[in-house]
Amino acid sequence: MTPVLQLEGVGKTYQRGDEQLRVLVDFDFTLDAGEFVVVTGPSGAGKSTLLHVAGGLDAPDSGTVAVTGQDVWSMSAGARAAFRRRNLGFVFQFFNLVPTLTAVQNVSLPLVLDGVSARYADARAEELLQRVGLGDRAAHLPAELSGGQMQRVAVARALVARPSIVLADEPTGNLDSHSSAEVLRLLRSLSDEDGAAVVMVTHDAVAARYGSRELHLVDGRASAVDDAAPIGDR
Ligand SMILES: Nc1ncnc2c1ncn2[C@@H]1O[C@H](COP(=O)(O)OP(=O)(O)OP(=O)(O)O)[C@@H](O)[C@H]1O
Ligand SMILES: [Mg+2]
Repeated sequence: MTPVLQLEGVGKTYQRGDEQLRVLVDFDFTLDAGEFVVVTGPSGAGKSTLLHVAGGLDAPDSGTVAVTGQDVWSMSAGARAAFRRRNLGFVFQFFNLVPTLTAVQNVSLPLVLDGVSARYADARAEELLQRVGLGDRAAHLPAELSGGQMQRVAVARALVARPSIVLADEPTGNLDSHSSAEVLRLLRSLSDEDGAAVVMVTHDAVAARYGSRELHLVDGRASAVDDAAPIGDR
């Protein structure tokens, strides 16, 4: 079976003044459907860079990134943007909701941008808000929601196009422990119920235990961590 995500020999270097900062070095990574991979590592290790390169947001200098078998960095920018909207969902630490749009409009936005009928987009967005427990908040603006609720809206938005991969960068970094647990359970249910693969960066040891596999990044090189608690033990 084709992996949902495959990075081969990926290199990423940033130029800082005269200095070359090698962030990812000959990086290989394979993600299968339904996996929930947690990425940990010290600040500056390249975790966000990895998600950006894997998610088609930031180009690698070398190597290939294939999402469901398609090389995302050989597409035109326009094709890549459309591909991203259909195949990848993103969840960020600071939610990144559009402040002038209601919850339901934020969730339906990727479908609307993709030219899906408003009727279907609204129905799908409402369904997802129900699923994340915010069916009664559809008409609220982000400013009228708590941090945990905003992040659940962001998770609903990430799912709206039924992506094969959800990439989450410290999704619980700004949440209290109760809201964190809700968001983590949602992400977990994605891989369990929908077969979507999740890659989640986190600094939080509790959050890390929601994964089925842990990758520890140091200086742009990854090692597997085998002592992740089995899912059933959480
Ligand atoms: N656009 C950029 N230009 C130059 N350097 C960058 C750029 N983006 C990231 N870096 C550098 O690359 C390194 C890796 O950054 P990255 O954001 O991937 O780290 P991280 O593991 O996500 O860290 P944190 O846990 O603090 O979020 C850092 O040293 C950072 O300063
Ligand atoms: Mg980061």
